[in-house]
Amino acid sequence: VREPDLVGRHVVVSAGGTREPLDPVRFLGNRSSGKQGYALARTAAARGARVTLIAANTALPDPAGVDVVRIGTAVQLREAVLKAASDADAVVMAAAVADFRPETYAAGKIKKKDGRDPDPIVLVRNPDILAEISAERPRPGQVVVGFAAETDDVLANGRAKLRRKGCDLLVVNEVGERRTFGSEENEALVLGADGSETPVPHGPKEALAEIVWDLVTIRLT
Ligand code: C5P
Repeated sequence: VREPDLVGRHVVVSAGGTREPLDPVRFLGNRSSGKQGYALARTAAARGARVTLIAANTALPDPAGVDVVRIGTAVQLREAVLKAASDADAVVMAAAVADFRPETYAAGKIKKKDGRDPDPIVLVRNPDILAEISAERPRPGQVVVGFAAETDDVLANGRAKLRRKGCDLLVVNEVGERRTFGSEENEALVLGADGSETPVPHGPKEALAEIVWDLVTIRLT
């Protein structure tokens, strides 16, 4: 357990994965459990921060002493993050956000039509919340952290993504079949816009969360 070095700070954490509805019963989604985001929220609260946790489709108990805002889609996540970020010292985007959503939402359940091929699903781009927050910094001096799941060339892809997004820190996970998603453990390389590289060995998601807050804390003004 760290020092209460986040007392008087407000931090915003997104967790889970967005679901982009096709009709009232179907959606495009992903396998994010939200565990890493919840670990970030819990550890920040334990270090004294006021925490807003924006949870996308998670099935986890609300962490004690944390304000939980539940949303479903990327567009809703954007609204909730922008609202909470206005007075936040740090924003950590741990949620897996769908890059695209179906262009149309069918108000009634989509039916199969006898003997006919299905209609294609047309996708449109979702807003990139991390890039937007990084560019706008709703509060001056705000520290912005992103996550990236990469299957290969973690360092090169991570560096390129950090630059593209414009955030201060990027937590890069190597993902594979049985790694990271839904697991209790994680392994990562945390890249800083200042050129820093912090490898985090395989371990509990709490341990990675503490290191993220250590790196955020030294960047707070
Ligand atoms: O581009 P990619 O999805 O790999 O980037 C991952 C990071 O960007 C995560 O921190 C995620 O929360 C954030 N993101 C976002 N809005 C999107 C897509 C990703 O904020 N539309």
